[in-house]
Amino acid sequence: MKKIAIIGGGNLGTAIAEGLLKSKFCKASDIIVTKRNTATLNALAQRGVKITSDNNDAVSKSDIIILAVKPYQVSEVLNSFKNALSSKHVLVSVVTGVLIKDIQENSQKKIPVFRAMPNTAIAIQQSMTCLSFTNAAATQISFVNKLFSTLGRVAVIDEKLMDAATVLGACGTAYAMRYIRANIQGGIEIGFDAATASLIAAQTVKGAAELLLEKGSHPEQEIDKVTTPKGCTIAGLNEMEHQGFSSSLIKGIATSYNKIVKG
Ligand SMILES: NC(=O)c1ccc[n+]([C@@H]2O[C@H](COP(=O)([O-])OP(=O)(O)OC[C@H]3O[C@@H](n4cnc5c(N)ncnc54)[C@H](OP(=O)(O)O)[C@@H]3O)[C@@H](O)[C@H]2O)c1
Repeated sequence: MKKIAIIGGGNLGTAIAEGLLKSKFCKASDIIVTKRNTATLNALAQRGVKITSDNNDAVSKSDIIILAVKPYQVSEVLNSFKNALSSKHVLVSVVTGVLIKDIQENSQKKIPVFRAMPNTAIAIQQSMTCLSFTNAAATQISFVNKLFSTLGRVAVIDEKLMDAATVLGACGTAYAMRYIRANIQGGIEIGFDAATASLIAAQTVKGAAELLLEKGSHPEQEIDKVTTPKGCTIAGLNEMEHQGFSSSLIKGIATSYNKIVKG
């Protein structure tokens, strides 16, 4: 089994480690997690994951390196372990906005580099992860794909779509949360207590998403099944559209994208 070093055991890094443990993708002893202040990683250490603040040591003992630090830390952190990098390594960066070519330049080694854009549902193995890569062999692509597939769904994309993937896949979690919250507020207004409204709203959205994922149908096909002529669903839906529902979502997505691309 390949050894996996997670460099940067923060929110995302620990969520990936937890997901790998939960899915039994690898043994705890095959994972090494690093950060400068290792005290916050005690829970992982107790489960058998190796913890260290020595990036160089972690990299030299691993095959797959998952880089999960903040974008402004990338250059310094790559510098801290570049001497330990060799041809056996595969580097996977989950860092937002840092290009594969910049990671290659900083690492100064011709190793396969992957970029992955997961979302916070990775902690419960329900992430949507977009992947792109360069220089990788078929076995390495298959391994990294399998790793993220144990943590949710995977789409292989062109790197030029990574900013779009950040918006739709990672910011998308926040958009969905706001949609669910609005449903809860509406649910309370029509008579439910907050806890019941939250359960109904979240499970209904989960069920709707599962219908699309499992059946591969188009949203409008599923909407047609719910909308009786002259009924309450179509009346509510049309009112939402008159108020700019779809348009506001599309404009929000485009605004997030422009913020990434134009700053
Ligand atoms: N959260 C998301 O939904 C999400 C989704 C997709 C991508 N991302 C990207 O993933 C990256 C990590 O995000 P995050 O939310 O997990 O950030 P975070 O919680 O701040 O984690 C970064 C970790 O890096 C550690 N670190 C800093 N310098 C280090 C060094 N020299 N050696 C080893 N570890 C070091 C920090 O711990 P110490 O200070 O103790 O060293 C910190 O725990 C970001 O680039 C983000 O853009 C996040």
